Order: sequence, then structure tokens, then C-alpha cells
Amino acid sequence: MSEAQSFTPVDVAIQPRNRQHDLAEALKGDWMRKDVFATAWFNAMSITFPLGEQFFINSVRHYRDRISDPKLQEEMRQFFSQEAVHLREHRRYNEMLCALRGYDLEKLEGPLRRRMGWVKKNVPAREQLAGTAAVEHLTAVLAEKALGDSGIFADADPAMRDLWQWHSVEEMEHKAVAFDVYRAIGGTEKMRRAAMRRSTLFLTWDILHGVRHILKCDGVLWSPKVWFSGVRFLFGKQGILKGTWAPYKDFFREDFHPWQEDTSHLITQWELQQSH
Ligand SMILES: [Fe+2]
Ligand SMILES: [Fe+2]
Repeated sequence: MSEAQSFTPVDVAIQPRNRQHDLAEALKGDWMRKDVFATAWFNAMSITFPLGEQFFINSVRHYRDRISDPKLQEEMRQFFSQEAVHLREHRRYNEMLCALRGYDLEKLEGPLRRRMGWVKKNVPAREQLAGTAAVEHLTAVLAEKALGDSGIFADADPAMRDLWQWHSVEEMEHKAVAFDVYRAIGGTEKMRRAAMRRSTLFLTWDILHGVRHILKCDGVLWSPKVWFSGVRFLFGKQGILKGTWAPYKDFFREDFHPWQEDTSHLITQWELQQSH
């Protein structure tokens, strides 16, 4: 029998749900809390997904033949399917958003596309995988916020809430796949931590680049009111980053694993809501 390489709990099933979302109505307006900045922030996040998720798939797929644990192999397959549907849905989202609101998709995606091209050519595959494991942790931390009690999408447009929570659930299910593959191929702790520092910086930069373009097109880039509400939205009492520092920092621990934080109840809770 081959050695276990997957450390996702056995009762967590990674299952792709091939969903389609009708977002046209919502994307016309400020769908997140009717707030200009909050909407711009999530729209800018969405812009990074199709390129990012394709990168995640590629960096994990590169090691497909190096994994001997059938459980992890199966999880990798489900991970590819989940991310493929996410990127399809977010591509449609992004194209629709730009068509409806006059944003320039090429300008929004350009810097990320160029950097990804550079990384593909110049960065060793193992380091690319470390980057994926890092961003998957960032995603999992935000997914927990999206599904948890604070319900950051409580006041969002229902169609948008459905999309973001569906994506969050699947991110939570597969949160350890890239990490387990990285560990199985002998990735070092040092490289993993360095990848997290870099990824945090770049992801923040990419989102801010998107926010800037969007607010500029909306004609509110220099509005103090918009930026004030932005600070509150990020760091305030109901802010989306509130409470995320501790789980973020966990990644830097020597013996870290994504499932040390058991978030499976959030998946079950979401499943239950869906059946009502
Ligand atoms: Fe995803
Ligand atoms: Fe993911």
C-alpha cells in the first residue's frame, strides 16, 4: 500500500458543482452592500480569478505523476474540475462586468497576465506550486469569512451571494490539495513561507490595481467618501479582514496544515441551506 499523502479529512468530499450564474442584472449596479468601494473590491478580485485559477491548475498538474496516494490523486482531479468551473464562471462574470460598466478587461488583466507569463518562464515549478499553496490558503481564510457567522455577503445581491458562497465552499473543500501535493514532492517550509510573503504582496497589488481602474472609470477615484468607506469595509467592525490575521499567520508555523482549522461545519451548513 502506498503511503498517505492526502490529509484532507475523509468526511470532506471535494465535489465539483457545475453551476451557472445569471449575474447580468446585479453586475450593472453596486451589488455589494450598495457600496461603491466594496463592489469594486470584489469585482477586482474576480478579475484575478480566471488567470490565477488556470495557474493553480497548471502548477498542481505539473506533479500529477509524482503522487502515489490514490486519495490525493482523486482530490487533484476534483480540484482541477472545481477550479475549471470557477474560472469559466468568473470569466463570464468579468466579461459581462466590463461590457455593462465600460471597464477595460485588457487593462485590468494585463499586468497579471504579463507577470504570470514571466513566472511560467523563469520560476521553478516547485516554487510555482508553493505560490499556489499560499494563495489557496489566502482564499480559504476569505472563504471562511464568506460563509461564517459574520456573513460578509448578508447584504449583497442574492445572485452574487450565491456565486461567491458556492465558490467559497469549493475553495474550502479543496483547501489542502495544493498544500498536500507540495509536501508530497518535498517542498520546503522556507520556500512555502517566502511564497506566502510574495503572494500576499502581489495579490494585494493586483486587487488594488483593479480597484483603481474601476473607481477611475466610475469617476470616483478621488472621492474621500469612497475611500473612507473602503477603509471601513476592509478594517472596520464588519470589515472583511477582521479576524483574518491569526489564521493568515498560521501558515508560517512549522507544522501548519490547512485542516488543522476544521471548517467542515461551514460546508455542511451551506449544503443544508441549499436544500431548503
Ligand atoms: Fe476557485
Ligand atoms: Fe482554489
